[in-house]
Amino acid sequence: MSATIWAPGRVNLIGEHTDYSGGLVLPIAIQLGIGLSAEPSDRIRLVSAGERLELAADGAGAPYGWGRYVAAVAQELAELGRPPVGIDGVIEADLPRGAGLGSSGAFEVLVGLALCAAARFELEPLELALACQRAERRAVGVPSGILDQAASLLGRAGFALLLDCGSLEHRWVPLPEDVTVLVLDSGERHAHEGSGYADRRRELEAGDPRRVRHVETENERVRETVAALESGNAAALGPIFAASQASLRDDYEVSTPRLDALVAAALEAGAFAARMTGGGFGGSIVALVDPERAAEVLARTVAQGWTVRSADGATRRRTDSNRDRA
Ligand code: GLA
Repeated sequence: MSATIWAPGRVNLIGEHTDYSGGLVLPIAIQLGIGLSAEPSDRIRLVSAGERLELAADGAGAPYGWGRYVAAVAQELAELGRPPVGIDGVIEADLPRGAGLGSSGAFEVLVGLALCAAARFELEPLELALACQRAERRAVGVPSGILDQAASLLGRAGFALLLDCGSLEHRWVPLPEDVTVLVLDSGERHAHEGSGYADRRRELEAGDPRRVRHVETENERVRETVAALESGNAAALGPIFAASQASLRDDYEVSTPRLDALVAAALEAGAFAARMTGGGFGGSIVALVDPERAAEVLARTVAQGWTVRSADGATRRRTDSNRDRA
């Protein structure tokens, strides 16, 4: 049985650098993502953009590059009891890497779902998200939180996901129809392997007052954002996003001059709320804009940007049936 899997990227509306201390996040899964069509096989054989990877079905092997994520996901799932069934497949993506849209989390989710499907091994979405989060650390040593993997698995079209990363309690918050969400790419590429991501986590855990203040105030801003969305008061998001950006710049120090300038340019061009999104040190900003001004904001700010639509979380479609979710 072959399977086609799709895992979306995410844009985090607010709740940045709060996940790994058990705080609140509010991402949306987006229409940009990664797909994989795969057949069960004796080993793991994958092709992506002409690059081939081959590993044992339990993830043993010494890969490099994106292969490290595949190996780490397979190893995490093996530890949870997944039978060692391999996959043979081709990966295709329209989700840019390193742009702050959760590409590595989406990739882990994609591989995890494909490996589970091939071995007929079932995991609850949050169990899989946690396994993929551990895989991120195992693969590249980045001690990330669960934001990206949870968003890729639990997103819903028309909604943002409100997730308490401590208790894993979650619910979906409707997105206003008259607001367009833009992602504007600063062009500054990051890989959290080499960035200050792990330093920030360490500083937070050591109790650095500015880092702690960012997290406390950011959690409060997530609550305020949810209240504004639920009361249909999107205009209130402008000052909340501005305060988030200032806190990420001054207290958490993960923004960059280019991200700061892009936020200012988006507001200047007509967005009513804007802030960096994702881990920072480069990547993208998220901007909220009235639909009729979206094209102008895109045109006046960056070479690369996207109007993002909220999407459903990762799906598994069996190609031998018409069902949407297997
Ligand atoms: C990256 C990590 C997430 C989260 C964000 C910051 O995207 O993968 O776990 O920490 O940074 O909010």
